[in-house]
Amino acid sequence: MISGLPMTVPDPALPDRVRIHEVGPRDGLQNEKAVVPAEIKAEFIRRLAASGLSVIEATSFVHPKWVPQLADAEQLMPMLADVPARLPVLVPNERGLDRALALGVREVAVFASATESFAKANLNRTVDESLEMFAPVVARAREAGGSVRGYLSMCFGDPWEGAVPVDQVVRVSRRLLDLGCDELSLGDTIGVATPGHVAALLTALGEAGVPAGRLAVHFHDTYGQALSNTLTALRHGVTTVDASAGGLGGCPYAKSATGNLATEDLVWMLEGLGIATGVDLGLLTATSVWMAAHLGRPSPSRTVRALAHQEH
Ligand code: HMG
Ligand code: MG
Repeated sequence: MISGLPMTVPDPALPDRVRIHEVGPRDGLQNEKAVVPAEIKAEFIRRLAASGLSVIEATSFVHPKWVPQLADAEQLMPMLADVPARLPVLVPNERGLDRALALGVREVAVFASATESFAKANLNRTVDESLEMFAPVVARAREAGGSVRGYLSMCFGDPWEGAVPVDQVVRVSRRLLDLGCDELSLGDTIGVATPGHVAALLTALGEAGVPAGRLAVHFHDTYGQALSNTLTALRHGVTTVDASAGGLGGCPYAKSATGNLATEDLVWMLEGLGIATGVDLGLLTATSVWMAAHLGRPSPSRTVRALAHQEH
């Protein structure tokens, strides 16, 4: 890295600190054609934690036929016992929750859709049926002393239905929070959001009584908008941002979903703005370069490419 860069120029309208919710091992690897061995996943997660990431979504307890890339969750989680980070997992139903609880996992996420088409494609349920499926999951996870994140997909557009009305997103958001989710992550599953749309949704959620402190944003970078959308969300008081190391990712059940916002691109911007993340960008980049070598293709992150280039 060139010493002194990025220069730090804070913006008083932005928060002092952002919590990065790293999703590379889950959202990233679930979309890789190759199944990554559990030992490599464990090493990836260890390296991510060593780079300072404090929340790393480790895997999913979903049906192994639906997402074979994450079918080794039972093998992986015990390998992570000494990792100094929170390691939430995705669970779609009570069967998934039972599997997670049996391994001592206490932090889980359920994942709903703002649209009927994606609810069907991703969960084989209508929106109503999927919320019914989540209700006992959220209640039991909380009884077990855990915290629950609710994801809401297709908040800004859907590959089958096109435009998704803001009030429809607000309605399902409220229902997820009413189930007892501690946090709600707004998913731009196919990366079609633009900053004005992000501002409109966050304003509408605020008017519906959802505090920005309970929200996270989850942008995919299909159209190159993820970072501008994130900056807009920060201006609206959001301080939790999902990102994936090296920009890995996509979603196997959403046509045209590509990688998440790359964690390195996010950290570069936040460092420039003087916003603390606790992440060491050099260590993180080295991790993504290592993972890219394992996957046999370069990272799509611009920051990873720029920094890796400077090393040579
Ligand atoms: P289904 O086929 O309707 O399942 O799938 P079912 O409830 O009818 O059960 C059928 C069989 O599956 C039963 O076995 C169950 O026990 C078993 P049988 O009795 O026939 O022998 N089963 C399970 N086995 C293991 N673990 C489980 C489980 N559940 C049932 N948890 C289901 C319904 C929800 C299971 C399925 O649709 C599924 O697994 N979907 C997951 C899809 C997924 O993981 N998608 C990616 C994550 S979402 C995402 O990436 C978006 C996000 O990043 C945000 C954004 O970008 O927008 C979060
Ligand atoms: Mg996603």
